Amino acid sequence: MDSFTPDPPPSADSAVPAAPEPHRYRVTLLPSGWQFDAPADVPLLLAAQAAGIKLPSLCRNGTCRACLCRAQSAGDPAPASVAYRIEWPGLSRDEKAEGWLLPCCSYARADLTIDAPDAALC
Ligand code: FES
Repeated sequence: MDSFTPDPPPSADSAVPAAPEPHRYRVTLLPSGWQFDAPADVPLLLAAQAAGIKLPSLCRNGTCRACLCRAQSAGDPAPASVAYRIEWPGLSRDEKAEGWLLPCCSYARADLTIDAPDAALC
C-alpha cells in the first residue's frame, strides 16, 4: 500500500506579499478638535464618516459644493494638501489656492486642519 505524504506548507519566503497599506494622514476639524485618520485612497468625507464624524454633503461628486470647507495652516488659510481624481471639481483655481476643498472628492496628501463648523458626530 502506497502512503501519501502532502507537500509541506509554503515557507514565508514563497508566500505572496501582502499589499502595502495606503498611507494615512491625520485630519483635525475646527472648532471641535475632533480628529480622524484619512487613508490616501479614501475621500475625506468617507474617512470622517468611518470615524463617526458626519460632514455636510449632498451630491458627493464635487458639483454641489455643499461640503465646501477650508483648510488652515498655523491659523491662516493655505492651499490644502489634497488630491482630486477628477480634473477640476467644483472649485476655482483661486479657491484652491485659498485653501478651499471639497471633502467628498478630495484625498489627503498631508496632515490637515480643516474649518468644519457643521461637523457632527454620527
Ligand atoms: S457633496 Fe457636493 S460637492 Fe461635495
